Amino acid sequence: MEQVQLRSPHLLGLEELTREEIQLILDTADSFKEVIERPIRKVPALRGKSVVNLFFEPSTRTRISFEIAEKQLSADVINFSASTSSVAKGETLRDTVRNIEAMKVDVVVIRHAAAGAPQFLTRCLTHSVVINAGDGAHEHPTQGLLDLLTIRDRFGRVDGLRVVIVGDIAHSRVARSNIWGLRTMGASVAVCGPPTLIPPGIETMGVEVFYRVEDALREADVINVLRIQLERQHGGLFPTLREYARTFGITPERLIHTKPHAIIMHPGPINRGVELSTDVADSERSVILDQVTNGIAIRMAVLYLLNRGGDDDVE
Ligand code: CP
Repeated sequence: MEQVQLRSPHLLGLEELTREEIQLILDTADSFKEVIERPIRKVPALRGKSVVNLFFEPSTRTRISFEIAEKQLSADVINFSASTSSVAKGETLRDTVRNIEAMKVDVVVIRHAAAGAPQFLTRCLTHSVVINAGDGAHEHPTQGLLDLLTIRDRFGRVDGLRVVIVGDIAHSRVARSNIWGLRTMGASVAVCGPPTLIPPGIETMGVEVFYRVEDALREADVINVLRIQLERQHGGLFPTLREYARTFGITPERLIHTKPHAIIMHPGPINRGVELSTDVADSERSVILDQVTNGIAIRMAVLYLLNRGGDDDVE
């Protein structure tokens, strides 16, 4: 039987991935979990490869877990911060990445405020692998994958589950990657939020839309709560944060009429007391820190699969 491989040399989004490709990434991530538990957390899979982490937007979880994943795969790691680079002197994105590639970098991990920036890089670069670490409100594929892995860990499957995504859907790349990935893996997906934070026509992505959170939560196996992204909003989308919390915030009272096994997810960072109460964020139902831990295995899997060439040994 022919072995499944990733068809693209880059990871730009989950929209492009097949069920078999997502399955391959999740299974490979499972095999890397054992490496993460070893006393010496190191395998030689990316020895001799250079990876640059190109972050044009702030990040804690994604940047650090990519760096840990790269180091555990024995890659040479270069961290780039736009504010201390020649971008601050006006250098373009195209010139920046072409100069970085001229230094023989093998992989570029990019987070950028502009949707489509990773796709643009694939046209500027000749040999480097490009991995999207979040582009504007478009996609955050490794977040979508680590969310799928966390759901699969808890339920043993994704197929047939009901996942409800609550919050700022309009500005969320996490929502888009989750919707593509979950639908491809056979979950039923609903989104819920104020009408101003739900993009028109989102039903075409195969999701149900709710504007009343109690109705959305009733059948949920997974409740994925999204951050209110004030930095991408231009005001006027809801009256106040207090009003948002009162109408859509996930609190213990709102969970009373949900399935007892339903889990709470959040990609972080959390606005505590706005989209999620502290009681719920830190409760037994919360798998938020499991998501963060799974981020390392997923990023190791993606880096490994996009760089493995002919050698298939994880070791
Ligand atoms: N989930 C996520 O992307 O978090 P960071 O912005 O901290 O990387």
